[in-house]
Amino acid sequence: MKLLSFLPLFAAAAALPAANHLAPRASISKVDGLKFNIDGVTKYYAGTNSYWIPFLTNDNDVDVIMGHLQTSGLKILRVWGFNDVTTVPGSGTVYFQSFSGSTATINTGANGLQRLDAVVKAAEKHSIKLIINFVNNWTDYGGMAAYFSACGVSSNAQWYTTAKCQSFYQAYIKAVISRYRTSTAVFAWELANEPRCNGCQTSVLTNWIRQTSNYIRSLDSDHMIAIGDEGFGLSGDGSYPYQFSEGLDFAANLALPNVSFGTFHLYPSSWGTTNSWGNAWITAHAKVCAQLKKPCLFEEYGVSNAADHCPVESEWQKTSLAAKDSGMAADLFWQLGDTVKSTGQQTHNDGHTIYYGSSDWTCLVTNHVKQIG
Ligand SMILES: *[C@@H]1O[C@H](CO)[C@@H](O)[C@H](O)[C@H]1NC(C)=O
Ligand SMILES: *[C@@H]1O[C@H](CO)[C@@H](O)[C@H](O)[C@H]1NC(C)=O
Repeated sequence: MKLLSFLPLFAAAAALPAANHLAPRASISKVDGLKFNIDGVTKYYAGTNSYWIPFLTNDNDVDVIMGHLQTSGLKILRVWGFNDVTTVPGSGTVYFQSFSGSTATINTGANGLQRLDAVVKAAEKHSIKLIINFVNNWTDYGGMAAYFSACGVSSNAQWYTTAKCQSFYQAYIKAVISRYRTSTAVFAWELANEPRCNGCQTSVLTNWIRQTSNYIRSLDSDHMIAIGDEGFGLSGDGSYPYQFSEGLDFAANLALPNVSFGTFHLYPSSWGTTNSWGNAWITAHAKVCAQLKKPCLFEEYGVSNAADHCPVESEWQKTSLAAKDSGMAADLFWQLGDTVKSTGQQTHNDGHTIYYGSSDWTCLVTNHVKQIG
């Protein structure tokens, strides 16, 4: 399987020196004005999220799914680079870091970061670019709460500002970055999934983002750095997501020198807004990104009613793509679904999942990629 898929490349390279045009030379993805440059090409990009792909245990399963992304024209894949536990699971279960007493232990074993290695390797092979996220605000796969007891805090608000929590977090960041420091498959490092600090002064998160993005930059001068936030806190119609109550100030955080681009999410049903409200949410972020001269990544979006997937999300994609010269650089729907080859099982259906090969896939991937061109 693996060998066969490499064969045409070698054959082409031997037959014709211009083969470089067929397989563009991989390079480190970067910001180019208000867009992203991937392997030398600056344009609007489409992608998706797969929190689960680093938790698969079979290399070939990972490879097959990356192949599906490649042939579909999806370029950016956001994954969980964390999996924190407070009790070490049985030997077959994947986890990346465990906390016990007042210590943290990073799992570099076969059921640890070697699973992330397989994702990076498959991404390199299929020219997929990864956003690798370092910690969850939510308790899925541990999150900040998994650190609490070991670093002596009891809330996310304390986690952001307590030196011991931050030293565990930075040690983990360093362990991950050191594995893929030179990989062209890394699109960006990401601080956290949906960091929030409810009721805090926005300076708490801004200071933490400054400190962490500077730390990442000190380890890696090349790859882009993003926050991974929902994009709360900016001027708009004043509804809940525009407010600063979750401790986020979109423009202040994006303005930080070592933050490379802006991220925002869109979940009207969780936020008490309407689906069509999402269009102005997209353009409001594009406006701030354009003002700050950094690209905007529409990083997660979803509606849970299956019948709404295609009509609602394709509308948002069109709004984002229409702003491709005024701040919007890429969009990543939540979330990727596929069949795991070795088990024949479908991946997690959280109501938002868009399965490879489905009619939703045609609508939100095939047609979208065609429109992007
Ligand atoms: C995420 O962070 C916010 C703010 O600290 C908090 O209100 C919320 O409960 C967190 N989510 C979880 C599940 O910890
Ligand atoms: C970005 O991070 C680097 C490395 O920590 C730091 O030296 C630099 O001052 C930061 N940039 C700015 C403009 O603050």
